[in-house]
Amino acid sequence: MIKRVLALIFVLAFSKAYADDTLSAYSPNHVIQLTIYHQPDGQIKYGAYYKQNFFIKPSGLAMRFSTPDVLLNKFDLIKNSERDFDETWKPVWGEVGSIRNNYKELTLQLKDKTGSGILVNIVFRVFNDGFGFRYEFPTQEKLNHFVVAEEMTQFCVGADHNTFWIPGDFDSNEFPYNHTRLSEVDASNSKMTSEIFAKFFFDKNAVQTPLMMKSADGLYINIHEAALVNYPAMDLVIDKSTFTLNCHLVPDAVGNMAYLQTPAHTPWRTIIVSDKAPEILASKMILNLNEPSKIADPSWIKPQKFVGVWWEMHIGKSSWDYSGGQVGSQQTTKVPHGANTANVKKYIDFAAKYGFDGVLVEGWNTGWEDWFGQWKEDVFDFVTPYPDYNIDELTAYAKSKGVKIICHHETSASVTNYERWMDTAYRFMLNHNMNSVKTGYVGHIIPRGEHHDGQWMVNHYVRVANKTAHYKIMVDMHEPVRPTGLQRTYPNWLACEAARGNEFNAWSVGNAPDHETILPFTRLMGGPMDYTPGLFRIKLNQFDLNKKEQIHTTLTKQLALYVTMYSPLQMAADLPENYEAHPDALQFIRDVAVDWDDTKILDAEPGDYIIEARKAKGKDSWFLGAISDENARSFAETLSFLDPDKKYMATIYRDADNADWRNNPEAYTIEKFIVDNKSKLRLKLAPGGGTAISLVPANADQVKQAKKYK
Ligand code: NOJ
Ligand code: CA
Repeated sequence: MIKRVLALIFVLAFSKAYADDTLSAYSPNHVIQLTIYHQPDGQIKYGAYYKQNFFIKPSGLAMRFSTPDVLLNKFDLIKNSERDFDETWKPVWGEVGSIRNNYKELTLQLKDKTGSGILVNIVFRVFNDGFGFRYEFPTQEKLNHFVVAEEMTQFCVGADHNTFWIPGDFDSNEFPYNHTRLSEVDASNSKMTSEIFAKFFFDKNAVQTPLMMKSADGLYINIHEAALVNYPAMDLVIDKSTFTLNCHLVPDAVGNMAYLQTPAHTPWRTIIVSDKAPEILASKMILNLNEPSKIADPSWIKPQKFVGVWWEMHIGKSSWDYSGGQVGSQQTTKVPHGANTANVKKYIDFAAKYGFDGVLVEGWNTGWEDWFGQWKEDVFDFVTPYPDYNIDELTAYAKSKGVKIICHHETSASVTNYERWMDTAYRFMLNHNMNSVKTGYVGHIIPRGEHHDGQWMVNHYVRVANKTAHYKIMVDMHEPVRPTGLQRTYPNWLACEAARGNEFNAWSVGNAPDHETILPFTRLMGGPMDYTPGLFRIKLNQFDLNKKEQIHTTLTKQLALYVTMYSPLQMAADLPENYEAHPDALQFIRDVAVDWDDTKILDAEPGDYIIEARKAKGKDSWFLGAISDENARSFAETLSFLDPDKKYMATIYRDADNADWRNNPEAYTIEKFIVDNKSKLRLKLAPGGGTAISLVPANADQVKQAKKYK
């Protein structure tokens, strides 16, 4: 007996010395449990359960600085505290009219155990749809300026999940998506992606975020970051023996990651989780982890639809370049300069006639002869129009037609040059009645050696957002770092490209038919995308009979993208003549809203299909979009989201029965029916197809005359 008691005492003492101290925090609905492990040697790990399912196994939290030279991976826990938070806020624009921000916060106040005395807080916020955490470095005696050499945050998913991924890269996110197991990731094939000029491969096991995974038992896990400011973007390197994703920051020109000064903090690391795919798309966690809007009076910020002198350059009808040369092309044939006064007037007339707010004009300013692929610093000045672009005449003409010209600032990634010109360029815009700009960063970044996704550039994009806000200008950035929800803080930053847009269909192998079913689960988790939907002419041999490229969708899928690819800034990308060939289908683009009171994700599966309905801001109309990958699919959706007291006129734009994206992509059927909230609509999507539906309250006459849906 005495022996047994002694043995028990020994076991207790032993386990006390060698077991972790644990702390837990639960989501408000208790579905997610976050657990912190404080190991006897001082290491801190975190893990998480979703409905008792261990989906993040104990994962390390550590950092290494080069100045001061310190590895922060063992800590004393000075204090931990909890806080409940619950508020509802209204975005300036968005997918829904109001957003609930409800979480349990757990803060660990830590002190480096190895003698530096550095204080670090790790703050966790557990929401019903996932959790976020960040490192904070408070003002303190032992740390002022410091240089981050490595962030060693881990995400141990612990199993060989199905994954939608693009290669980790320091400069580009314009890769086609891969769908493989984690163990099958091989990012080295990205080196072959010749259509991306500025890219930087660094590890064959590296992937980018937002990373979408699905476990064998149907759990959807999405890893990304929120509020990326003054810090580089995070790539993830997969350890295939443990299925741990290791943070790998984008370095600067001399190999450092971030230069910080206390008080400082990292962006939030985010993990969104659900056993239902639509809930991933509906998550507002990333927005909630961003700071509220810095713009006190946002009344000048307007979601908008626009057309542009743009697609005609991508398909080789005209040129950005005044001399008619074609970008990156071996072709010696010259084409006309697109941004000439007469042509821009044609677009302004089209916009005025069909109700588009803006006309984007690319190639309006000098410099395009010599912008691409060089290390040249002074390419564009952003204020000197080409001789055939009469800016005063066009300013007056656009104004007389109630249309805004959208300015274009291609920086050719010479960012030092752009920073010198920004104020002058924005004043020039205001003097010419323009208050929206599309920026672009094609090429290798100057300052030389910096990357698109490094700290210096991250700060540049935020400077642009701030400065454009100062001038009351809205901005759409192409080739920036992937978005992380900063549109909450800077609502004038309407959209970004930061992924493989529709334009790749014009001059590359294009975007596979499942591409648009993946983007909302990946890139769009961070914010709206300027995808440039609305292409009606699917085969692109309009101006060159030998051109083999085509859009990898049907025509009506292009319509559905206005609903499934959320953005407050939507282009109708095709040429006026291609729209005028299909005025009935154009009607959907004219009608569809760009700002919403509500969104219902009716059904979705990454890589397969997405069906969403959205209610137009301040109106009773709804718009539904359904898209499929390369497979034909059928669905039946009850319109239960409609107001039960109303009848609606449904205008259904669907693939013709014999349509498919490759052989018969432009065949469509438009039907009108009276429906209500009990109607069950059959959706029949062609391979690579889609259906778009507008649902507008019907008056008594319409109800009498129109067909009822059966
Ligand atoms: C790449 C952008 O994504 C595209 O939209 C633009 O037309 C070209 N750069 C030229 O700036
Ligand atoms: Ca691009």
